[in-house]
Amino acid sequence: MRVDYPSLAKSIHALTTGEDDPVALMATVTCEVHHADDRFDWTGFYRVTAPELLKIGPYQGGHGCLVIPFSRGVCGAAARTRQVQLVADVDAFDGHIACASSTQSELVLPVLNGAGGLLGVFDIDSNLPNAFTQTDADALADILKNTFAAVK
Ligand code: SME
Repeated sequence: MRVDYPSLAKSIHALTTGEDDPVALMATVTCEVHHADDRFDWTGFYRVTAPELLKIGPYQGGHGCLVIPFSRGVCGAAARTRQVQLVADVDAFDGHIACASSTQSELVLPVLNGAGGLLGVFDIDSNLPNAFTQTDADALADILKNTFAAVK
């Protein structure tokens, strides 16, 4: 099954409209995205909970590492640079954190509120190599932007 982004965006909008609690939004986005595509083996958020520190948020899939400093891993790079990280081969990414040895590729996007503050990152991991495309990155960035705009 391949994700249908217009329909995914519509469902997430319908489910979350009027909500501004970040964890409620993260939980809902995680559930909707995770079940939308067979390529997505781990889907979830890491939240900024202290300066330069990410802590696990809502997720689906096997257990994730609890704490990731901004200095480490693909998630840390997304938080530090506020740039989307599209990693075709995790073994080729210097400093990748292997929470699950089955992960072969990943896509990590920064999550900002409407004021431009960094709330955390959204991480999707796949057990397939080179699973993600720029289309995934663009569509998910759009969904995150719309969903988290209302968060303080
Ligand atoms: N692989 C990520 C860590 C998070 S988990 O895989 C759930 C990274 O290098 O940032």
